[in-house]
Amino acid sequence: MAGRRGFLQKISGLAAAAALPRLASAQPWPAVPGQLSPAQLAIDEVFWAQVARSFMVNPDVTNLENGYLCAVPQDVLEAHLQQVRRINAEPAWYMRRHQFADREQLKQQLAQLAGVSADEVVITRNATEALEILILGLPMRPGDEAVISDQDYPNMVEAFRMRERREGIKVNVVKLPLHPTNDQQVVDAYAAAITPRTKVMLATHLINLTGQVLPVKQLCDLGRAKGVEVIVDGAHSFAHLDFALPQLGCDYFGTSLHKWLCAPLGAGMLYIKQAKIAQVPPLFGDATLPATDIRKLERVGTQPCANHLAIAEAIRFHQHLGGAVKEARLRYLRTYWAERASRIPGVYLNMPLDPARSSGLGNVGIRGKTPTQIADYLLEKHRVFTVAIDHGPVQGIRVTPHLFTSLADLDKLVAGLKELAG
Ligand SMILES: Cc1ncc(COP(=O)(O)O)c(C=O)c1O
Repeated sequence: MAGRRGFLQKISGLAAAAALPRLASAQPWPAVPGQLSPAQLAIDEVFWAQVARSFMVNPDVTNLENGYLCAVPQDVLEAHLQQVRRINAEPAWYMRRHQFADREQLKQQLAQLAGVSADEVVITRNATEALEILILGLPMRPGDEAVISDQDYPNMVEAFRMRERREGIKVNVVKLPLHPTNDQQVVDAYAAAITPRTKVMLATHLINLTGQVLPVKQLCDLGRAKGVEVIVDGAHSFAHLDFALPQLGCDYFGTSLHKWLCAPLGAGMLYIKQAKIAQVPPLFGDATLPATDIRKLERVGTQPCANHLAIAEAIRFHQHLGGAVKEARLRYLRTYWAERASRIPGVYLNMPLDPARSSGLGNVGIRGKTPTQIADYLLEKHRVFTVAIDHGPVQGIRVTPHLFTSLADLDKLVAGLKELAG
């Protein structure tokens, strides 16, 4: 008995010591000069070279494909590893005694970051899980219609197609303009696809193929006016663009946290406005909790809690820099390469440059070259890593700098494009 009590005291002490991951040994983050505006700080290369030292980057290749997932700062990585070790040292103890309180605490932090309430938030494995809980769950009957676009993410499209096959709903696909000059053009395209039978609409906040930003506030207003539930796919917008969810006026939002928040791989977030929770059934069964309790969506089995705990450190890093500073830097990097690339004869951009409609992610093509030829050339000749996008009207390579990207990295990209176009 005494031995068991001693063991429990020991692991209880361990748990208490490691409750909040903030490592004394971690690389100090560069101080953010408060007197500079985000626009002034965005162009301060000395500051960004210091920020870059918070990351461990493979020097053999210039990584301009950070849209898939973002490398996490070393501190976040260390916090993650520390939590993996901690949970391995006290596995069931952690799960039974700490897991739920920690999750609620983390949800508070995420909710605060998003500007919503913690009882409207679920931590998921990724954006796909968050969005498919909605796409597969929202009530639709045979003959009902859904509206999506030709540039939505394939996983979401597949989920709608599955409902089409299983339940006989109809999916209408909007053709999104690549270079809209005003919000109304985009809103009109969605409005034209809505019929009296439309029940659900998907609106991607930041298109992963091109970096185009859609006017989701207006699209949510449109949905509300027409009695259509609007699901916002914010996989790329959260912690990339500086906004709080209430500014979008959306009822449903799903995002990845392993993209721009720089949390460890395997983290996402679902938001459902309180008044809408009751109509979203759990994708994974739960018949015990009231329909209005969002935790009914959390019964997904044993969870990778170490990943979740490390999200707290990613939030700290994000808040240390500030969302406005981060957005300004990512936009500055995109503008830097895109303006230079657009001056090369034969090179074209597949996204608008207007700040209201663009982001840190961009897409560029060369007349007469396939996307794969461009991506391969840049990698083979310049060790610049991008990704080929061959998607209907979007023909080019996606370029996604990260916070550690330097102007010299972007100069390599532009030099490679010039050579190939030349
Ligand atoms: C627009 C968009 N939606 C959803 C997803 C899916 O995100 P995850 O891989 O986190 O499920 C992605 C991933 O790149 C995306 O770009």
